[in-house]
Amino acid sequence: MHVSLNMAMSLDGSTSADGKWAGYSSPVDRQRMDQLRSECDGLLIGSQTLLRDNPNVHVKSNPEKSPVPVSICRSTTLDPALRFFHGPRKPIVFAAAAADANESAEWIVMPPGDITPTRILKVLEDRKIDRLLLEGGPTLARAFLRENLIDRIYLTIVPWVIYEHDTTELIEPKQFRLSSVERMDQEVFLQYDRP
Ligand SMILES: NC(=O)c1ccc[n+]([C@@H]2O[C@H](COP(=O)([O-])OP(=O)(O)OC[C@H]3O[C@@H](n4cnc5c(N)ncnc54)[C@H](OP(=O)(O)O)[C@@H]3O)[C@@H](O)[C@H]2O)c1
Repeated sequence: MHVSLNMAMSLDGSTSADGKWAGYSSPVDRQRMDQLRSECDGLLIGSQTLLRDNPNVHVKSNPEKSPVPVSICRSTTLDPALRFFHGPRKPIVFAAAAADANESAEWIVMPPGDITPTRILKVLEDRKIDRLLLEGGPTLARAFLRENLIDRIYLTIVPWVIYEHDTTELIEPKQFRLSSVERMDQEVFLQYDRP
């Protein structure tokens, strides 16, 4: 099994603004996301991301190449109206309780303590999913990184300062302009300027 992680963050390291990500990725980044999705068999998205962003889970440019959507929820209830349940492929959901099951997905019910990234990969491998793309959120990504299960990371840095962590006052996100990119050995040096 080959596992890739595709995520984006702002210049101040935020991965969401006011609980959502929509609106910060460019059309080019979304095209790239579409391409990455078309190259994998499974697309894993965290339950909180499904609830907050309600993302589409297909390949927009070629729905026939859409991967199988996968999610994990031990305590979250997934609304059957979520787009996750209405793409071209039947999703797989790892869940701790059968009570939430609906017919739009294959529900794999396991004791909550057994729902770990390593076990999930094993089950997906048995279903012939050999290339998995993980699209976040950060909590699920951390769980996979902690178990050293990520083979490749795709990271987009968007030209915004979002102030997600500043809860004391509402600050408008600000956009910068990327002026230069320099790669030295294993590091990338980026220069941004106020437009
Ligand atoms: N910038 C980006 O690229 C990007 C990408 C995706 C999402 N986002 C943003 O990220 C936010 C959501 O991220 P999040 O970190 O709050 O949640 P998340 O990673 O989307 O989902 C986390 C949930 O996954 C479930 N889970 C099941 N097994 C787990 C395990 N072993 N380890 C960890 N989680 C497990 C848990 O739900 P249960 O308790 O029900 O098990 C947990 O609450 C949203 O605001 C979204 O907009 C940003």
